[in-house]
Amino acid sequence: MRVLLAGGAGFLGSHLAEALVANGDKVVIIDNLSSGLLSNLNAIEEKIEFMKGDITKELNVKGSIDLIVNMASRAARKEWETYPVEIALANSVGTDNLARLAISKKARLIYASTSELYANPEVVPTPETYIARLDHISSRAPYDESKKFGETLIKAYEAQYGLRNIIIRLFNAYGPRMRGGDMYGRVIDRFMKQALAEEPLTVYGTGKQTRSFTYVSDTIAGIMLLIKSGKNGEIYNLGSSVETSVIDLAKLVIEATGSKSKIEYGPLPPGDPQRRGADSSKISALGWTPKVPIKQGLRQMLKFYK
Ligand SMILES: NC(=O)c1ccc[n+]([C@@H]2O[C@H](COP(=O)([O-])OP(=O)(O)OC[C@H]3O[C@@H](n4cnc5c(N)ncnc54)[C@H](O)[C@@H]3O)[C@@H](O)[C@H]2O)c1
Repeated sequence: MRVLLAGGAGFLGSHLAEALVANGDKVVIIDNLSSGLLSNLNAIEEKIEFMKGDITKELNVKGSIDLIVNMASRAARKEWETYPVEIALANSVGTDNLARLAISKKARLIYASTSELYANPEVVPTPETYIARLDHISSRAPYDESKKFGETLIKAYEAQYGLRNIIIRLFNAYGPRMRGGDMYGRVIDRFMKQALAEEPLTVYGTGKQTRSFTYVSDTIAGIMLLIKSGKNGEIYNLGSSVETSVIDLAKLVIEATGSKSKIEYGPLPPGDPQRRGADSSKISALGWTPKVPIKQGLRQMLKFYK
């Protein structure tokens, strides 16, 4: 296949690009390098085409395309607050542009959506059929509402123009190349760096809130499986059904790093979900099982940091 991968210089996109190249696919990446890094593609730079570009602008992609994967959106909490307009437009206007392109190229479109659509779910593990109430004017809204609208738009293109598509709701993926620092860092990155620097690990709220941490190789195996065997028009959760509380995560990071760091508590950000756990039975029925337990994933992350 010739695959157009939007957001391919990012954390997940670069791992997916490597998997596609290893599978013998031709990969064309479009990325505006807002949160991604060209160096993420070092291992495959000779084997891919890279276009610096923004999916919210006019797209000029030459040649045939069999599959478009849309992963182009900033995804870290601080980015939602700092770049809300870019994020809202990436998932709405950007998804619109890619859907139009998919129709004109007769390609299939795969969309990286998010478990943020489940907000604060009453049902955990949460199935794809769960409908949550989102606050459309909260600070999280530019991300979660635009992802939701991206899904709506894809369904509209499917109904009106027969767009072949798969929507994947990703849960917290982690692993090497997850970008760190104040702007891009997510909880595992923050804890790892704090532990390695022997600084206190900052837990927000009580730390009892849970997340569905999924190691990147499991996430990518799931996306590759859906590309091969996923059914068009379907939505799939992709995440571990094991819930890990943030406080347990902090303890596991301290254990994995052998750090003497203590745990400190800070205020819980508004709208922070209490529980996240994927009901992944739909993708499991296709043969997906996560293979990397959190302890092992953290050890692999540690090698990356070192
Ligand atoms: N990592 C996760 O746990 C997770 C969970 C749920 C959903 N997702 C979704 O998966 C996708 C990839 O996430 P990630 O963790 O790799 O994030 P990332 O920030 O590492 O990657 C996003 C990539 O998209 C690019 N990008 C952003 N806006 C763009 C635009 N307008 N035009 C072109 N390129 C643009 C960035 O430069 C970056 O390379 C995102 O859509 C994200 O919302 C990720």
